[in-house]
Amino acid sequence: MRIIHSVKQMQNFSQRAHQAGKTIGFVPTMGALHAGHASLLRKCQQENDISVLSIFVNPAQFGPNEDFHKYPRPVKKDVLLAKKEKVDIILNPSVDQMYPGAEMPSLKNKAKKAFQPGLRPTGYLTSVHLGEITERLCGKSRPGHFDGVATVVAKLLNIVSPDTLYLGEKDAQQVVVLKRMIQDLNFSVNVKVCPTIRELNGLALSSRNQYLTDEQRRQSSVLYQALQMARKAIKAGERSAAKIERMMAAHIRRVKPTAIEYIHCVHPQTLSPMKALTGTILIVLAVKIGNARLIDNITVTLR
Ligand code: PAJ
Repeated sequence: MRIIHSVKQMQNFSQRAHQAGKTIGFVPTMGALHAGHASLLRKCQQENDISVLSIFVNPAQFGPNEDFHKYPRPVKKDVLLAKKEKVDIILNPSVDQMYPGAEMPSLKNKAKKAFQPGLRPTGYLTSVHLGEITERLCGKSRPGHFDGVATVVAKLLNIVSPDTLYLGEKDAQQVVVLKRMIQDLNFSVNVKVCPTIRELNGLALSSRNQYLTDEQRRQSSVLYQALQMARKAIKAGERSAAKIERMMAAHIRRVKPTAIEYIHCVHPQTLSPMKALTGTILIVLAVKIGNARLIDNITVTLR
């Protein structure tokens, strides 16, 4: 396994690999790896000659008051997990490699002019903007977030040049946004979406689960329970999105969450809200428990 910090070196590596007729699979992450990431890496390793993992905490997708500085960065642990999953290349670029000219003081030296997540670095101007689908759901409370995600993934695709990109179903809106960007901008890459890996109590694994206390982690099982209750009610004949959403909120409120940001039944491609439930329904939620903002979703198909 090799760790690459330089954008140029990564591009050269991928060019040589393609010239040698090898296929490249790519799993972009922000590090703090867990079994959810590992499942993507396993699939990537099985299906490609070369598997590339990126661990880059992307400042452009964090809002000014979000957890960019606090986001966990356990690089040594990540390297061990990557080795176990037989990753060939870890791409771990600095912020300056990705956004040249960005003022990025070391995290320890807060006295220097602090980098403002969410603001454009001065030496870097281009951004990928998708409009409506990025403004719904998580985009409402996190303006600019999905433009930051789309921008960094566009850059990473140009740096890694993978044949196949692996994404997790857990971030349903991110999948919709990135598939759309790939289509609209003619990126030549296949997308594979992998199922959500959960704890035994149903809580979807997330790097942000580290912000939960043991008690809150137990309480967070209400999210998946609520999604399962919704599935059962729809399968039993309920067709009102409003009723489903109310029922889910009532179940989640039992653990006194800090906030229920949204619970919606939406169209899986457009993410627009459904009123009467038909076809394939994506049920999505974002709930704050303690200090952790948790998201989850399931898809229900009616025949
Ligand atoms: P991150 O949150 O680190 O997630 C990296 C990938 O792992 C995403 O595709 C995500 O959907 C997937 N993933 C996370 N938790 C999962 C789980 N419990 N089961 C299955 N897959 C899971 O998503 C990002 O990073 C960033 O926005 C990124 C795409 C890297 C751009 O910066």
